[in-house]
Amino acid sequence: MKIHSLGGYFHEYQKSVQNPEAFWSSIADNFYWRKKWDKVVDWNFAEPNVNWFVNGKLNITENIFERQLFTRGDQTAIIWEPNEPGEEAQHISYRELYEKVCQFSNVLIEKGIEKGDRVIIYMPMIPEAAVAMLACARVGAVHSVVFAGFSATALADRINDCEAKMVLTSDGNFRGKKKIAVKAVVDQALEHTTTIETVIVAQRTKQEVTMVEGRDIWWHEATEGVSTENKAVEVDSEDMLFILYTSGSTGKPKGVVHTTGGYMVYTSFTFKNVFQYGEGDVYWCTADIGWITGHSYIVYGPLLAGATSVMFEGVPTYPDAGRFWEIVEKHKVNQFYTAPTAIRALQAYGLDVIEPYDLSSLKVLGSVGEPINEEAWHWYHDHIGKGKCPIVDTWWQTETGGILISPIAGVTPTKPSYATLPLPGVQPIIVDNEGNELKGNSVEGNLCIKFPWPSMLRTTYGDHERCKNTYFANFENLYFTGDGAKRDEDGYYRILGRVDDVINVSGHRMGTAEVENAINEHPLVVESAVVGFPHDIKGQGIYAYVICEKDVDSSDEQNMKKSLIATVNKLIGPIAKPDKIQIVPELPKTRSGKIMRRILRKIAEGTTSGFGDTSTLVNPEIVNTIIEGTKDA
Ligand code: WT7
Repeated sequence: MKIHSLGGYFHEYQKSVQNPEAFWSSIADNFYWRKKWDKVVDWNFAEPNVNWFVNGKLNITENIFERQLFTRGDQTAIIWEPNEPGEEAQHISYRELYEKVCQFSNVLIEKGIEKGDRVIIYMPMIPEAAVAMLACARVGAVHSVVFAGFSATALADRINDCEAKMVLTSDGNFRGKKKIAVKAVVDQALEHTTTIETVIVAQRTKQEVTMVEGRDIWWHEATEGVSTENKAVEVDSEDMLFILYTSGSTGKPKGVVHTTGGYMVYTSFTFKNVFQYGEGDVYWCTADIGWITGHSYIVYGPLLAGATSVMFEGVPTYPDAGRFWEIVEKHKVNQFYTAPTAIRALQAYGLDVIEPYDLSSLKVLGSVGEPINEEAWHWYHDHIGKGKCPIVDTWWQTETGGILISPIAGVTPTKPSYATLPLPGVQPIIVDNEGNELKGNSVEGNLCIKFPWPSMLRTTYGDHERCKNTYFANFENLYFTGDGAKRDEDGYYRILGRVDDVINVSGHRMGTAEVENAINEHPLVVESAVVGFPHDIKGQGIYAYVICEKDVDSSDEQNMKKSLIATVNKLIGPIAKPDKIQIVPELPKTRSGKIMRRILRKIAEGTTSGFGDTSTLVNPEIVNTIIEGTKDA
């Protein structure tokens, strides 16, 4: 079902709220189910326990391949654009991808992977990464993709949390001018894990790697001579499809669990509608498959919808800041989906880098990951879309699996910095801190969702209590997003940002507690507090206030900071690197020993006065000392 007009949108929205079962079952009917569901949805948010397409049996890859091969076998499924513009792009048809997936599924089976087993994918943006995900899904295994920028420690934590049996990786990763070791990181991680039996290594950079006898095998050797025919394993609608780890307000990343049937129906539906993907179009999402955006809108959503999806290995600024636009021209991209941080970064290079390229193929522009500021919105609209492409500002989360609030391209009138209206089936509600619904328009508060949608998270892996406490315990019978939002006089939603201790750095989510935990591991650190601060390109930067052991004198400060950054790199990865570090003698604390983050946030923003009531602090004098020290951060 595809919505083509605003009237059509309101009509479908109404239907989806009045009779969600009828609405979703008519969409799910377009897929191939080995056995149809008994009930569309069965749910409560108290436990929570959410089941979609109850007792339905299927395989998601049968819906990508077998369901579509007859009509789309020769159509390009994935256009892979390598890091070096000089290296040839690959056009992989649905049939070729099918054969690769079947073949690799056979490898997984041969290596002992069974339904329900967890497989870690720690890979760069190469076609094998998509093949790896789909092959796991085909054999009923649960993939957990770990962004290849995470450190060995972060990787080991994830392997241990889900007790994975296998790691799929590559020798290295080309990113711009850099050649980054990938397999070596896996080797380090595996020194701290016990469950991995096999490591399969795709060859990309041809750099030297160590292969452990009996454990490690090259991808090309493992697939050699293996049949390209494979019968998909039947799974239940509610069987796990994947786990994706994400940061929260507590220290340890959570394994967000997504299941099969609902995720399939929802990602495909939202992909087609939000981007108004049409037959023959070329769609490009610039995310990494290590994030939910890559899962839902590079791999599953587009491929389920029979789209041609571009997968780019490199970075926006290599060999120069015109690279995105060169690729748009080269592959005649029709729908382009990126993050505000990339837009702001490229905007800084001026218009000269855009000018050489023909961007006339573009029809729709998308934005995701963080609020898009008006200036970036207008620049994107005017200079990339040439004033003729609608911008879809898509709001969603790792936990939501798919886009929840967004314009439908060309259908919903847009308004800069507004995610606009909920998609059909999505029932947002704004509540105050006590959980009272703020009805009507022109209200602002905590954004919650009051009815389940098919691709919502089901649990956090191995710890259902944590899922309940994080998302369903704040406000009774509501899913709490962690975001603040405003509903304006037109009923449009504007996302105001996180209301918890999560910050958004370049569209990546970072728990402040997670960064603090890493900093605190440094032997010379006594205590630390991490907050976000406004950053021109990244949206938010990471500001760390650190108390060190007495013997770090000011002449050693620069070395200390370098060493703190190295610690964060080692424990999480470069994405968590603090932008500013301030060494402080004390942190502002209340009598009960709680750090007053509100004050630290204000100081990091550059505020020097008007901190409100500081009388509850045991050490109010520290505030001025910290303000004076900001210049050295
Ligand atoms: C958080 C989720 C799922 C997309 C990638 C990020 C913020 C996401 C928007 C938007 C304003 C946005 C929210 C959300 N966010 N999209 N269009 N406008 N904020 O996924 O890492 O799970 O982060 O990103 O704060 O809660 P994520």
